[in-house]
Order: sequence, then C-alpha cells, then structure tokens
Amino acid sequence: MNEKIFIAVAWPYANGSLHLGQLAGAYLPPDIFARYHRTKGNDVLMVSGSDQHGTPITLKAEQEGKKPGEIAARYHQQFLECWEKFGISFDLFTTTGTENHARVSQDIFLTLLNKNYIYRDTVSQPYCPKCRRFLADRYVEGICPYCHTPGARGDQCEACGKPLSPAELIEPRCRICGTEPVFRDTEHFFLKLSAFNQPLLEWIRLQEHWRPNVLNFSQRYLEEGLKDRAITRDIDWGIPVPVEGFEDKRIYVWFEAVIGYLSAAKEWAALHGDSERWRDFWQNKEARSYYFIGKDNIPFHSLIWPAMLMGYDPSLNLPYDVPANEFLTIEGRKLSTSHNWAVWLPDYLSRYDPDPLRYLLSINMPETSDTDFSWREFVRRNNDELVATYGNLVHRVLTFVYRNFEGRVPEPGELDGQDQAIIHAADDALNTVDGLLYGCHFREAIRTVMSLAQQANRYLDDKSPWKVIKEDRKRAATSLYTALHVISQLKTMLYPFLPFSSQQLHGYLGFAGTIEEQGWQPNPPAPGQKLHQPQPLFTKLDDTLVEEETARLGQPSA
Ligand code: MF3
Ligand code: ZN
Repeated sequence: MNEKIFIAVAWPYANGSLHLGQLAGAYLPPDIFARYHRTKGNDVLMVSGSDQHGTPITLKAEQEGKKPGEIAARYHQQFLECWEKFGISFDLFTTTGTENHARVSQDIFLTLLNKNYIYRDTVSQPYCPKCRRFLADRYVEGICPYCHTPGARGDQCEACGKPLSPAELIEPRCRICGTEPVFRDTEHFFLKLSAFNQPLLEWIRLQEHWRPNVLNFSQRYLEEGLKDRAITRDIDWGIPVPVEGFEDKRIYVWFEAVIGYLSAAKEWAALHGDSERWRDFWQNKEARSYYFIGKDNIPFHSLIWPAMLMGYDPSLNLPYDVPANEFLTIEGRKLSTSHNWAVWLPDYLSRYDPDPLRYLLSINMPETSDTDFSWREFVRRNNDELVATYGNLVHRVLTFVYRNFEGRVPEPGELDGQDQAIIHAADDALNTVDGLLYGCHFREAIRTVMSLAQQANRYLDDKSPWKVIKEDRKRAATSLYTALHVISQLKTMLYPFLPFSSQQLHGYLGFAGTIEEQGWQPNPPAPGQKLHQPQPLFTKLDDTLVEEETARLGQPSA
C-alpha cells in the first residue's frame, strides 16, 4: 500500500546565500527522506519556499539601497539553482510572495479571529521620532542588560544568546539613524496561544517517537505556559492585515511563514491540475507529515503551528514528526554569517561535486548533538571512504568485468558459503537501512551502508577473481557476479544520500530508467545484462585545498 508522506521543509529567508549549516540542519535530511520514500514507492510531497518577508529582508534591502522584493527575487533565483545543483528534490519550492499564499494566510487569520483565537490589544512599541516609524525588535540596538555587550539587537543578544525585548536594552538606539527611540502605543492582533496550552500538552504526550531534544524542549515550553503573541507589525513589507483600520500594518512574518506548508500544498495541487489533491496529504488520516528544521525553529513547528492548525481547522493533520537537527560548527567554531564564518553553498558548488559534501554532511549529521565540519575531514572522507572504499570497490569490479566478460554481467556458477554470506549481508542491510531511514536515523543508516562496502572489499580481497580467473574462469565469474549483486544493493541504499553517483552507477550496471523506478528491493543485475563503459564515480581531492579553503573563512566575502 502506498503511504502518503508530506515533507515540510523550513522556508529559508531570501536575504542571503545558503550555507552548510542550513543544509546539514534542514535541507539535506528531507531530501534523503524524500528520495528514500519515493524509492519505496510511496507518495511524497515535499514543499518549501523562500521566506521573503520580515526584517531579515528589509534590513538587507536597506543596506543595499534596494527594494525588499528585489532582494527576495535575487535569492529565490539563487536558491532554485542551488537545489538543482545540489540535488534537493522539492516537488515545489515556491515563495511567500504568491497571491495564493496571501489568500490562505488571510483566510487563516480571519478564521482564527472569528473564533476568538485572535484578539486586539494595545501595546507600547519603540518608535523612532527621526525616521517617523515604529521599529521592529531587530531595528533597535543597545547594550545587553545581561552581558553588557554593546550592539545587542532588540530581539536577542548574539553575544550571550539571551532573548531580549527592546525595552530591556541599555541605551537603545534606532539601527537606521542612531536616534534614541521613544515608546508609543499601537494596536495589534494577538494569537491566543494560552488557549492551546492544555490541548498541546495532551497532544505532545502522545509524540513518543519524537527526538528527545525536540520533545523535551517543547514540553518545557508548555510547562512554563505559552504566552499570547503579537502577530501583526507596524511595517509595510508583508501580507496585509485583512481588517479595516489596519491598512498600515502587516501580518507578522512567522505567523504567515508556517502557513506556507499548507498554502504550498494547495499551490502544488493546483499546478498539477487537481486543486483538491492537497487533501491527500493534509486530511487523509493515514498521511504523515514530517517537518525538517534547525533547532532554532522548534517551538514554531512543534507548538505554534500545531496550535494554529487546531484553531483553524481540526480536520487538518498535525505534524507527525519534527526531526529537528542540532547545529553544525565550522572548523570548531560557531557558524556566523555576519562574520563570514561559513561555507556558502554557491561557492562550494562552483568548485566541487555535490555528492562528496552530501556524504560528509550525512555521515556527520548533527542529529543528536552538534557536529563539526572541517575541510580536512571533507578531504579525508572523500579520499578514504568515497574514493578508496566505495569507489574503488565499484571501479575495480566494473572495469574488470567489462574487460574480461565482453561488457556483460557474468553467468555465475554455484555460490559457495562466502558468496551466499555477502549476498545475505547485502539483502539484510537493505532491510536495516530501510528501517533506519523510515525512522529518520540518517547518520546510522549511511554508516550501515558503508560498513557493507567495507565488507564487500574484504570479500573481494579474499576471492581475488583477478588471480583466480587464470585457472578457474567460472569461480572468478561467480565472485564477480556476487560482487555486482552487492554493488547494486549499495547503489540503492546510497541513492538517497548520493543521488548523482548512484544513478550513474545504476547506468553502468546496465539498468535503464531511474533507481526510484526500480524500487527498494534486491535488484541483482541479470547474468548477461549489458554493462556501460564505467568511469570512476569519485575523484581524489588534493590536500592543498584544505589550506586554501580554510583561509577563505572569516574573510570579507568577495
Ligand atoms: N525563515 C525562517 C528561518 O530561516 C524559517 C521559517 S520556517 C517557516 O529561520 F516555516 F516558518 F517558514
Ligand atoms: Zn531612526
């Protein structure tokens, strides 16, 4: 039976390039998951889009003297190119700037308003008398009241990590003009999150399959009690508030960005000629939804979005899982985009292939704790593991068979115990990895596959068909056939992680079509099947790149 798998991926702010932290945290895992489920024959819908509203975009626009829409369009384009080259296989990657998204967001807003889950209140907000505008939290800077570092933002101090409100800052200043803000009354809408505390507690209790970090974090939040939150802002960039008298205000970016998961599913359905099809993923009770995000986004996805859904329409599925990742550090230091302590995806892709990075970020994924990226580790894992272990296994078998068996899969003789054991191990691994991927244990899954590759190398060393062929051609044919069987399973299991090289190998093995079409099952190449002239799957990287790349870190970007 086909399972329906809705894969919801965090919407990146369209105010800068993507970097490795985002990939490891939020973008690579859902792609692995989507490819796995598609290969299993399940129905997958994987959506996300550019988050184009909010102060991250307007601040960047002001810095560059551009309109926010231009900034958003530029990075949206860049994101699309990156997904394509890095192989992140969205079914739809849209933006929060579509009319569809505005309509769905306003509908949710009005429905919650009618049900009294949204109410009006007057609050006092920082206002810059010189700029003559209200200042969003991030537009106010000052000295952190906790650690006394200057330059703390009104929403958070980057130095000590404490969340702040502008009123707490010592010597607050307008970030645009440096004037001291005054506090003025302004009317806003609030989401009554407090009304959902109890229902969320009851719901969260049932989510025993969630990762402990996500579960504990969310539970602690609820135990402290959710507070109502303002969901409109005094700005002009964003989705209009659909209520008279609020023409100068916009819906708060976080309130509408999460709605993107629903609006994108609707957009996808309309684009595919059946505008009701989103219901398969949102209202079918058998469908399951997975939200892939970085750990800084947990409460928005594990609590606030579920609360909005509960209030809006109880027929919609709540998140089944929120497999949030921890952070990736770079060369032992916290990643910082403002200090350019980051590896940018467009830079990476201009110099290297996608699969080696996908490999490293998978085998070193920050699933349960922070992990580190270093260029030395990148080179080492590429050279020792992709090239020397897996690539070499594949290449020596394929080239030898290609040359000595007229480019066809050899006809095996009777399998001995060792042949049977390694085939058994491969088919076993297919099951184990299946279970691991199903449960979002990506790191463990790829480690399991790589240990099979090592085992296969040892098998070949033992069997040495290159020597045996001289006296017993049938025996050599049998071990090569066995090796091809194992390699074919390796390619299936590695496909979610290394889609480019796996699909290439699929072709070398003489299969037509795609691995996804072939499916997640033992797929031994048939004796006599015509192979394609093999090429090495991976290239050895030179040690000198370590120094070159490390030197780029922290430098002002070109
Ligand atoms: N744009 C936010 C960020 O980059 C993530 C938004 S996820 C969403 O942190 F679902 F709310 F869109
Ligand atoms: Zn000002």
